[in-house]
Amino acid sequence: MRIAVFGLGYVGTVTAAGLATHGHQVTGVDVDSVKVDLIRDGRSPVVEPGLDDLITESVEAGSLRATTDASVAMDRADVSLLCVGTPSTPRGDTDLTYLRRALVDIRGALDMAAPPDSGFHSVVVRSTVPPGTGAGLVAPAFTRTQLPAGWTVGTAMCPEFLREGSGVADFFDPPFVVLGADAPRVREAVSGMFGFLDRQVRHVDVRSAEALKYACNAFHATKVSFTTEMSRIFRVLGIDSREVMDIFCEDRTLNISPAYLRPGFAFGGSCLPKDVRSLLHMARVNSLDVPLLAGVLRTNEILIHEVADRVIAGGSRVVALLGLSFKKDTDDLRESPSVELAELLIGKGFDVRIYDPIVNPERLMGSNLRSVETRLPHLRRLLASSPEEALAGCDTAVVATGDPEVVRALCADGPERIIDLVGRLGSGVEALAGYEGAGWTA
Ligand SMILES: NC(=O)c1ccc[n+]([C@@H]2O[C@H](COP(=O)([O-])OP(=O)(O)OC[C@H]3O[C@@H](n4cnc5c(N)ncnc54)[C@H](O)[C@@H]3O)[C@@H](O)[C@H]2O)c1
Repeated sequence: MRIAVFGLGYVGTVTAAGLATHGHQVTGVDVDSVKVDLIRDGRSPVVEPGLDDLITESVEAGSLRATTDASVAMDRADVSLLCVGTPSTPRGDTDLTYLRRALVDIRGALDMAAPPDSGFHSVVVRSTVPPGTGAGLVAPAFTRTQLPAGWTVGTAMCPEFLREGSGVADFFDPPFVVLGADAPRVREAVSGMFGFLDRQVRHVDVRSAEALKYACNAFHATKVSFTTEMSRIFRVLGIDSREVMDIFCEDRTLNISPAYLRPGFAFGGSCLPKDVRSLLHMARVNSLDVPLLAGVLRTNEILIHEVADRVIAGGSRVVALLGLSFKKDTDDLRESPSVELAELLIGKGFDVRIYDPIVNPERLMGSNLRSVETRLPHLRRLLASSPEEALAGCDTAVVATGDPEVVRALCADGPERIIDLVGRLGSGVEALAGYEGAGWTA
């Protein structure tokens, strides 16, 4: 394929050289003539292990060229990849000036360059851009005005996941190739372009492709700060945090795993809230500020209140709360977020009916019984013996359990509004009118 790469920084140079050494005819474009000249000389404008060799090889073979002139790069190009910078503004939002400029350059180049034989060109963003940029900025750049004869343009988002320092290795071994594209021809083009990677391209909508990169980077940053806070607490307690975290990382079931990373409801139970509070106390008595850990409890509370506020704003008066314990297959109600939610709604005068497949008030005892008695003293009266009984006459169901009986009851006769706190109730429930996710749109 003939590919134009806009922006010859870390991402663009690695991408251009990677594609040029794997069967494609690539032209890199940059506004910085120094970078262009370096590539023409067969040298990399950025320091990345192995990159100089790839550039030398592809420039010598004639598969990689560089220019400051967009129309040269766009001549008969099948794909253009946007790898320009998207830095922060002083306010913290994303500065899309370079992206806008590159889009104008590409659009202008269409007037001068010959179209590819197929007549179809894909404009693919690889820069990190906020969700909505594709629909609000990239796609309109090619639909607002009439395109020159011979050109049809489709747009897409294909985030890049390479890390500086191992950029070349990461480019050839990405964690995934994710593409958000509306047009099937763009999907075909990008799948063909990355064919040598031997990866199944994951097709998602454009906004999800844009969002994914932020989720990845925020998670990586959070991991660093989590470890920082743990090690600061452990150091003052005279503990070798390296040893603790080495062993911590060996747990592939809960620690280094997808556990707790599926969108859903708040955490609770007899351990997590108590032990986070305890760690916060240890930090406090040692005069340590640990905002991430403190924010963990705060975020949990916010979610519970947000769900309550959403129910309240809906205007219904009769609510079925399906699932009361803090997670499935347990009757432990200690610090269950569903108990807190029930408490909030009852406090606001809602008629709340509760069903839980496991909780049986006759069998609750000890601290478990005490905890629910103080928060929901009338639990026996509120508890229904089946999901159907809880749902009868209610306008809103708040679903905190994926129990099959609950799912069946919702599918058979779901109320006007269903707020899903589980995220895995299945397409039968999700297809119902009035379905809403706690933190997602279906
Ligand atoms: N650096 C990384 O490790 C990394 C990894 C993944 C994604 N990203 C994302 O990729 C994007 C690029 O990052 P980078 O680190 O390669 O940036 P960079 O600053 O190293 O390179 C950007 C290049 O774009 C050029 N440019 C600006 N306007 C242009 C235009 N109109 N036409 C052609 N070239 C133009 C600049 O001169 C510069 O050389 C950013 O959105 C970044 O967030 C970066």
